[in-house]
Amino acid sequence: MKKGKILITGSNGLLGQAIVSIFTRESDFELTLTSVEEQSNINLNFNYIQLDITNKEKTKKAISEVSPDVVINCAAFTDVDACETERELCWKLNVDAVKNLIIATRPHNIKLVHFSTDYVFDGKNGPYDESSVPNPLSFYGRSKLAAENAITISGTKHAIIRTMVLFGIGNKVKANFATWLINKLSAGEMINIVDDQIGNSTIVDDLAYGTLKLIESEREGLYNIAGKDIESRLDFTYKLCEVFGYKKSLISVIKTKDLNQPAPRPLNSGLITLKAQTELGFEPMDSVESLQLLKYQMGF
Ligand SMILES: NC(=O)c1ccc[n+]([C@@H]2O[C@H](COP(=O)([O-])OP(=O)(O)OC[C@H]3O[C@@H](n4cnc5c(N)ncnc54)[C@H](OP(=O)(O)O)[C@@H]3O)[C@@H](O)[C@H]2O)c1
Repeated sequence: MKKGKILITGSNGLLGQAIVSIFTRESDFELTLTSVEEQSNINLNFNYIQLDITNKEKTKKAISEVSPDVVINCAAFTDVDACETERELCWKLNVDAVKNLIIATRPHNIKLVHFSTDYVFDGKNGPYDESSVPNPLSFYGRSKLAAENAITISGTKHAIIRTMVLFGIGNKVKANFATWLINKLSAGEMINIVDDQIGNSTIVDDLAYGTLKLIESEREGLYNIAGKDIESRLDFTYKLCEVFGYKKSLISVIKTKDLNQPAPRPLNSGLITLKAQTELGFEPMDSVESLQLLKYQMGF
């Protein structure tokens, strides 16, 4: 007996694939996968619909035809630096497309589960809980906050999950911080790592599991779901070296300002996950546990 129907947008991305994997293993929900590409990146037998959520009419049609109980939006423009220059595209996907999802879900009382980020904060006084006041520094952060606000005031049944520094593996997904480190360090390349960006790195499996807990609990509102350890990128990198057996001497320590990245980063960030822990029973992995899982998943 199936528990209900879930439609996933952006199912080909890092989070989308992890959601499909965890929900298939740990729940009885009937899943419909959708993403912008013609084909699913997941080589299993799922219902798959090609869906570009920036297309309002097609989004309304797909959601009304599938008639899910929940839509999980994993689609986003996630290249933070590119968002500074490709502002129109960023807004179209991160804000206008979310409004399309609101329009498609609200009349049918479908719950919309959406993902946001610590980039809604300025990083002056993290870590942040769900009552902290946002003040985004970057265009990406502004777009994600605008989407949060659009959902919150829309009257659509919803949950918004803030997360940060996602890592993990998936089929044909873009590199993330951990996989980039592994690529460089395993090749013996020298890398520059900042010691002034603080936050919790999050293995995507943990985020997907927290999302399942949230949906099963039928709770609504804003939740932080992220890894357990709030630490610098440098400390995370040292832990990765220990777990994977790479040389720490390959790492040069630098400051964020020396990277000259187009988008400003929140430095003293981090997400407090106490609300998800107490209300959802979400237990985040610490960095070493999540890196050990990653190592296992990569077959090392
Ligand atoms: N990654 C992080 O560190 C991080 C941190 C905090 C929050 N988040 C949030 O977590 C969520 C998931 O991120 P992620 O890392 O899984 O992103 P991702 O790997 O970039 O996945 C996004 C997916 O959406 C697809 N997509 C792009 N345009 C689309 C469209 N018009 N219609 C439908 N699908 C479209 C992408 O396809 P293409 O690859 O072909 O473009 C990609 O498969 C996002 O809301 C993001 O803002 C991520």
